[in-house]
Amino acid sequence: MRVLVTGGAGFIGANFVQQTVRERPDVQVTVLDALTYAGNRDSLAPVADAIDFVHGDITDTDLVDRLVAASDAVVHFAAESHNDNSLQDPWPFLHTNIIGTYSLLQAVRKHDVRYHHISTDEVYGDLELDDPERFTEATAYNPSSPYSSTKASSDMLVRAWTRSFGVRATLSNCSNNYGPYQHVEKFIPRQITNVLTGVRPRLYGDGLNVRDWIHVDDHNSAVWAVLDRGRTGQTYLIGADGETSNRVVVESILDVLGQSPDAFDFVTDRPGHDRRYAIDSTLLRTELGWTPRYADFRAGLEATIAWYREHEDWWGPQKAATEQAYAAAGESVTK
Ligand code: NAD
Ligand code: TYD
Repeated sequence: MRVLVTGGAGFIGANFVQQTVRERPDVQVTVLDALTYAGNRDSLAPVADAIDFVHGDITDTDLVDRLVAASDAVVHFAAESHNDNSLQDPWPFLHTNIIGTYSLLQAVRKHDVRYHHISTDEVYGDLELDDPERFTEATAYNPSSPYSSTKASSDMLVRAWTRSFGVRATLSNCSNNYGPYQHVEKFIPRQITNVLTGVRPRLYGDGLNVRDWIHVDDHNSAVWAVLDRGRTGQTYLIGADGETSNRVVVESILDVLGQSPDAFDFVTDRPGHDRRYAIDSTLLRTELGWTPRYADFRAGLEATIAWYREHEDWWGPQKAATEQAYAAAGESVTK
């Protein structure tokens, strides 16, 4: 099986490629990645000899057409993925997330290639802290940010191309991922590397926003379950029952790293900040028989902290510029 992985030098894509090479010797992987600030070839170093890497943009229709024609399946991870960046400059999000997805859909349509679309639970908007419901495949779309609205747009394109043109597509919408190779702009690696560099962790707003954390390897095993056994046209929600407030995450990181649990700062809140995400993954579990391996968030977090401790060579070069960008965007300590 020849699989084209877009965004394979990013956080989730690189973990997907590594897992696939490790566990599926029958799969030949080609990565297509533009190597934006979020892409890093070092994330693929352990499998560099086992894959083909193409440096290119998913909106390059000639290149995409050629690569898709030579593939049996496409797994589309490539995206602009950070909400805070989308609030500073939405355009790259429209370019990659919407036009890039359109470019891939046209190619898989032309060559009748199986397509899996990686999306996010953020397309559903947010929940109240005490809302008894969680997101399901039937929840109405209600995105809040430029990031989540462009992801929602791309999902809509996939659904339309499936219905109107018979594209053999599946979709998955996953909750917040954590694990190795995540860019230090994102919440968990930012706070771990803050502590490791002697800086206090930073909580937006009141720190009570809730995210439904899943280890990246569990996300990727679910993607393989959908690729292997998913129904064409179906959306599957991926989550591991990991709801935790941002404040508890920060206190856990401080605890694991031997610091006082209150050694953090509150900073300016994110405009439009979603309050809570929560996934009901019953369909994935019952229909496809998937279960997460990292049922215990604290254990997965400890393993992730250990990875960042041991890989300053990977994240160190990005750290100062990332913090400068947050400062330039006006982030400041509130209490
Ligand atoms: P990331 O930002 O770490 O990586 C994105 C990758 O895409 C990078 O390697 C980048 O170079 C590449 N890329 C960006 N624009 C490109 C373009 N125009 N052409 C080719 N390559 C391009 O993102 P991530 O966190 O690994 O997320 C991967 C996917 O998973 C995204 O679609 C995201 O929406 C989705 N997702 C992420 C999370 C999460 O918690 N991180 C949760 C649910 C879904
Ligand atoms: P993030 O990793 O940006 O993911 P998302 O916005 O897709 O959920 O942020 C996760 C949560 O952490 C979110 O509620 C915003 C919050 N956050 C902080 O409190 N401090 C930070 O420094 C960052 C980057 C995020």
